[in-house]
Amino acid sequence: MAHIKIDELLKKMTLEEKIDQLIQLATPFYKGASDGGQITGPIEEMGISEETVRNSGSVLGASGAKETTNIQKEYLKDNPHGIPLLFMADVVHGFRTIFPIPLAIGCSWDADAAERSAAVAAHEAAVSGVHVTFAPMVDLVRDPRWGRVMESTGEDPYLNSLFARAFVRGFQGSDLTNDHSRVAACVKHFAAYGAAEGGRDYNTVEMSERTLREQYLPAYKAALDEGCEMVMTSFNIVDGIPATGNKPLMRGILREEWGFDGVLISDWDAIREMVDHGVASDEAEAALLAIEAGVDIDMMTRCYVNNLKKLIDNGAVDESLIDEAVLRILQLKAKLGLFENPYRGADEEREKEVVLSDANRKIAREVAAKSCVLLKNDGVLPLKRDQKIALIGPFAENGDILGSWSWHGKREDAVTLREGVLKKIDTSLVSSSKGCGIDVGKDEQLTAAIEAAKEAEILVLALGERSEMSGEANCRADIRLPQVQIELVRKLHALGKPMVAVLFNGRPLDLHGVIDEADAVLEAWFPGTEGGAAVADLLFGDLNPSGRLSMSFPYSVGQVPVYYNSFNTGRPKTNDEVDQAYVSKYLDIPNSPLFPFGFGLSYSSFEYSNPAISSHEMTPDSSITVSVTIKNTGSVAGEETVQLYLRDMSGEVVRPVKELKAFKKIALEPGQNETITFTITEDMLRYHHANLEYKSDPGLFTAFIGPNSRDVISLSFTLKKS
Ligand code: GLC
Repeated sequence: MAHIKIDELLKKMTLEEKIDQLIQLATPFYKGASDGGQITGPIEEMGISEETVRNSGSVLGASGAKETTNIQKEYLKDNPHGIPLLFMADVVHGFRTIFPIPLAIGCSWDADAAERSAAVAAHEAAVSGVHVTFAPMVDLVRDPRWGRVMESTGEDPYLNSLFARAFVRGFQGSDLTNDHSRVAACVKHFAAYGAAEGGRDYNTVEMSERTLREQYLPAYKAALDEGCEMVMTSFNIVDGIPATGNKPLMRGILREEWGFDGVLISDWDAIREMVDHGVASDEAEAALLAIEAGVDIDMMTRCYVNNLKKLIDNGAVDESLIDEAVLRILQLKAKLGLFENPYRGADEEREKEVVLSDANRKIAREVAAKSCVLLKNDGVLPLKRDQKIALIGPFAENGDILGSWSWHGKREDAVTLREGVLKKIDTSLVSSSKGCGIDVGKDEQLTAAIEAAKEAEILVLALGERSEMSGEANCRADIRLPQVQIELVRKLHALGKPMVAVLFNGRPLDLHGVIDEADAVLEAWFPGTEGGAAVADLLFGDLNPSGRLSMSFPYSVGQVPVYYNSFNTGRPKTNDEVDQAYVSKYLDIPNSPLFPFGFGLSYSSFEYSNPAISSHEMTPDSSITVSVTIKNTGSVAGEETVQLYLRDMSGEVVRPVKELKAFKKIALEPGQNETITFTITEDMLRYHHANLEYKSDPGLFTAFIGPNSRDVISLSFTLKKS
């Protein structure tokens, strides 16, 4: 529908109809929904009138070509202006074909893989009638106690920005209006939700604006620069004001500074929660704060519908604020072509062909293999195909490998680790036993596992967390494996057999209790529907692990938050191997994480040599290059991720000891070498100064090149005045 027609439509709407357009309700409110249309129940409990439902703007959580078509059909019978509903849902890492959790995809360091995963998710969702997905979640994370680290791509602003762009491209494609295999994306949660104190969900966020801009905002901005259609507010406060009512953040940065004119939606109940936060005395004041901050859609509260008209009548809110919100929503509906075709991509026949197709499963398997990280390998991997294997642990035959936010994913669709292994070797060579549950054990399980282990030549342990131990509101203060699993490892280790541990988990863990006992450790995260197949591909060497950590693994939870791009302090501990007095350290654990950002092993080995810099001086309008030669000194082909970090040795404010600025993934045959060159330009040297000005300073810099953020070769250079 043309813009002018939308303006005309807006003029025809009454104030009540415009306000109702701003509410988003779940499916039980809607006729045509399999669980919906109850006149009693939710509608009455929430005090929402039938008229409001009739004029509501969007619905969340509906899917299925038939279901969404029914809802839309029933809705359009009642809507006075024929304005179609928007269908929004959480399609975060897959719709029915589930991909690895985003934290795992972050460890692929492969934007193309991320884009393909989002394109598949979009396609399955679109044929099922979904128009908008509440993704990508790009919150930067530094605290593995937080349950939602699984939903992020990690601790680095550069890498998170790269993935934010890739996910938006995958979800939206390049022609959202005409390509009905895509959906609109909604970047979340704006802003800095991942910095919750204590890693406790919904908790206080406290940081300087400089840290907010330097670390936390870049990935949201990247998503919007890629054309992301929507933004979702976060539950937390930013500088003392809940994001959902935070005018400096929403009007100041998002709308005015960044020029975002798309739809801004609150998170679930977030407008009303401003009363709990203590910045709104009642729901009317919460509605006032939110509409003034530019929040267009009120997700699942009655704050807008019950209060905005009164606020206009008493002069507290100008009707123009309502009009701009409605206009943005109508424009999104127009962009999606809903006025021409309210059913858009919903198609029952296509749904049968596309959803959970073999082609989609194949992509999921490829992405899962790229997302696993080999943390340790004392030569026991890859597995031989003629050795007797005892597969032991709660994840030996467990479909709970989809992770949180996997909506229509079904555990029975998942390829378990046992099924994956049996595709590789004969059944006669594989025994499998649970040994224990995720967090409870039975003597008979343990006994059976030990007996099976005694018969085997190598033990493959499948350990980890239940999906519900991460995700929203699922935070852990103790990030070790559950004690019963650590006990299982200890008992099996006593048998003195080679032991591989495969981990299925939603956060970096404190790996004590397994990292020393196992001869090899493969971090599989929640690898999704094809997880068991992908892990087996890696265990048997049909694929060579290539994942690199996008979030540090702490030595213990006592280190948290631990992240690579930290400040040096005035008394840095320079060597974890020697005791140093009066430095920034712990008495009982090292400062270094167990595994650093960027870390990951391969079945190959890579040698770095001939570091070179084109000049030790550069000016703002010139560039220099740094290069290094990498050789595959192993016996199998492998992929290396060569990483470039920079450090500003002296800034106006303290600067991180390293910042990722570029990386290159290269595939090398055994014996092959390649010289990698990175170009350093002045924009890579910029940062937010004390007055928030974003610029570079002349001075000394260090470039670091290496396979991770710890094992690097350094080269110095100076930025001269222009
Ligand atoms: C939840 C989550 C958000 C999600 C929304 C809708 O509370 O915070 O990420 O998109 O509600 O389900």
